[in-house]
Amino acid sequence: MNIIKASSNSVTEAVGAALARDLKSKGIKRAFVALSGDLGAGKTVFTTGFASVMSPGSRVKSPTYTIVNEYLKGEVPVYHFDFYRISDPDELFGIGFDDYLDSGICIGEWCENIGDCVPEDAILIEILKDSDTTRIIKTSYDFYTEDENVDIGI
Ligand SMILES: Nc1ncnc2c1ncn2[C@@H]1O[C@H](COP(=O)(O)OP(=O)(O)OP(=O)(O)O)[C@@H](O)[C@H]1O
Ligand SMILES: [Mg+2]
Repeated sequence: MNIIKASSNSVTEAVGAALARDLKSKGIKRAFVALSGDLGAGKTVFTTGFASVMSPGSRVKSPTYTIVNEYLKGEVPVYHFDFYRISDPDELFGIGFDDYLDSGICIGEWCENIGDCVPEDAILIEILKDSDTTRIIKTSYDFYTEDENVDIGI
């Protein structure tokens, strides 16, 4: 597990970019990045950094109403989900969720809301508010980041 203290927006973005660089350098074309954390934790900020590497030039915004945004400017399609409004995982069938899993790299906000539909091999990223400007980012997957790794005794 990586635990990173992000002292500003740009660090959270940089950590997202670092994860994307890791996957890209390994030639990974299918993955599911499951983001969790409260309103305003920084999930969209993280995704912005991630997409800046995977799909340079795509404009990232929260797909709160549309559930999914597609960023198609890189080698591998990136599907950005926001499950905030999903109250029943059955709703995922309606948006063709399984087809997205088979077609590219998925990154999802509010994965708390889709329970068992998060693939077993997903990369789990939890963002915790530490103060107004700092966040603790916990990841289930180790990747190289230049940013500050912290030992918070977990
Ligand atoms: N270290 C930090 N990392 C990320 N965001 C930060 C940080 N410090 C402050 N912020 C602020 O927290 C907010 C994070 O917003 P963001 O939209 O990324 O949250 P979110 O987790 O996607 O929320 P939502 O659940 O509403 O989609 C922004 O206003 C950002 O400026
Ligand atoms: Mg968001």
